[in-house]
Amino acid sequence: MSTLEIKDLAVSVKTDDGDKQILKGVTLTIKAGETHAIMGPNGSGKSTLAYSVAGHPKYDITGGSVTLDGEDVLAMSVDERARAGLFLAMQYPVEVPGVSVSNFLRTAKTALDGEAPKLRTWVKDVNKALEDLNLDPSFGTRSVNEGFSGGEKKRHEIAQLELLDPKVAVLDETDSGLDIDALKVVSDGVNRFRAKDGKGVLLITHYTRILRYIEPDFVHVFVDGRVAESGGPELAEELEANGYDKYLRAAV
Ligand SMILES: Nc1ncnc2c1ncn2[C@@H]1O[C@H](COP(=O)(O)OP(=O)(O)O)[C@@H](O)[C@H]1O
Ligand SMILES: [Mg+2]
Repeated sequence: MSTLEIKDLAVSVKTDDGDKQILKGVTLTIKAGETHAIMGPNGSGKSTLAYSVAGHPKYDITGGSVTLDGEDVLAMSVDERARAGLFLAMQYPVEVPGVSVSNFLRTAKTALDGEAPKLRTWVKDVNKALEDLNLDPSFGTRSVNEGFSGGEKKRHEIAQLELLDPKVAVLDETDSGLDIDALKVVSDGVNRFRAKDGKGVLLITHYTRILRYIEPDFVHVFVDGRVAESGGPELAEELEANGYDKYLRAAV
């Protein structure tokens, strides 16, 4: 059973005009078996939260803590965080020319487990994961994210999620740029993951659309670098009806 605990997290980035505070005290606890949706307008700091938890060097932690099962995540290197069981699906996955999807997946799995996966079962697992996400088997020979459509990038992120099998998955706008069929395929993948024992999911989005397919246990409204309100799935419906306006005005 794993718990990701974010306490009073404050994060800034360096800009030409000096340091800019983006996260202003984020507190959030994701327990095993729970799916939390973070919803917030553009620029509210959602991706900054995802990157800070994953360990992106661009972000300076200026206060607060992040722990996974009591272990200090902020003290870990990026690869230690992954080995501890954290996974990030990025909003804008990066291209890695010259590295094939198959090679990338196998290298990642080997790095996580400390040993190479058994070839026969691994090839089967990879083919199954690609097939489940409506990706052609030849997809494995392509360079990571190079020339991928928006939908292929997101489906590839979820194939990684299924194969790498973390404890806690942070999914940053995994729904953006997906048509309705791809949204269904990606959501099914996330739902397969969270149906497994003891998995935590932090689903970041600015549309309620994906929440029709992935039903969260908790919804948090994220405004101006903070959680402005938390509730159950009904909160997403309220946002759908009324938008972020009320929360934005309260934040000013
Ligand atoms: N490297 C950076 N330099 C300057 N500003 C940044 C940087 N990264 C993020 N920001 C700013 O921080 C705010 C939050 O960005 P982000 O976390 O991407 O928001 P969201 O994902 O909610 O749209 C935005 O105003 C953005 O312009
Ligand atoms: Mg973002």
